[in-house]
Amino acid sequence: MSDPLPDLGPAPVRIRPKRPGDDPLIALWQADPAVRRWLGHPRESRYDLMGRLPHRVWMIERSGEPIGYLGLYDLDEDDRSAEMQICIGRPELWGRGIGREAIRLMLEEVSASPAVRRVHLRVFADNERAIRCYRAVGFRLEGILAARSTGDGRAVLLMARRLEAPVDTAGDAALNGDG
Ligand SMILES: CC(C)(COP(=O)(O)OP(=O)(O)OC[C@H]1O[C@@H](n2cnc3c(N)ncnc32)[C@H](O)[C@@H]1OP(=O)(O)O)[C@@H](O)C(=O)NCCC(=O)NCCS
Repeated sequence: MSDPLPDLGPAPVRIRPKRPGDDPLIALWQADPAVRRWLGHPRESRYDLMGRLPHRVWMIERSGEPIGYLGLYDLDEDDRSAEMQICIGRPELWGRGIGREAIRLMLEEVSASPAVRRVHLRVFADNERAIRCYRAVGFRLEGILAARSTGDGRAVLLMARRLEAPVDTAGDAALNGDG
């Protein structure tokens, strides 16, 4: 990894429901090439979670300022699983523990609902920062999707976490390559 990050001081992280007024900011973040290279195709939600969960998309705030979003999409009602997407829109805030804190808060909120017992996600295999973040909050490698399915030849990992499972960062042999 490169130079140490400049100290921005402590700042509380919270999540809150996305409002329509947040959409232009999200679009701005998604238009930034530095951000976009890590995002997959925009999700089209087949199953609306509204009514089953308190919220489907949350904004991530740091010291009261919106800096990113995370969402749950495509609820599979039989499996009670949904797909997560997360994005911190300001690259200077990456790698400071904000992502894992936001995911923890979302999982805590969602755990109260029986509608979702498993959260999964897709991540580019070269997105080491995201993978480390997901592992830190208990996601485990479930498979590798064919690179051709992404259209640009980059391999994609499928990771998942059961909500009952305690957060345990040890023993992810597949990702560590030590098993
Ligand atoms: C993915 C994302 C949400 C993670 O949030 P974050 O706040 O940056 O992540 P965290 O700080 O909680 O964890 C980052 C981990 O990666 C490490 N890391 C930081 N910069 C890194 C780099 N350039 N390369 C590799 N690892 C890096 C950190 O040390 C930390 O790991 P550790 O705790 O094991 O030391 C955020 O980086 C982001 O939005 N990125 C752009 C969009 C994106 O990639 N979205 C995910 C699509 S699947």
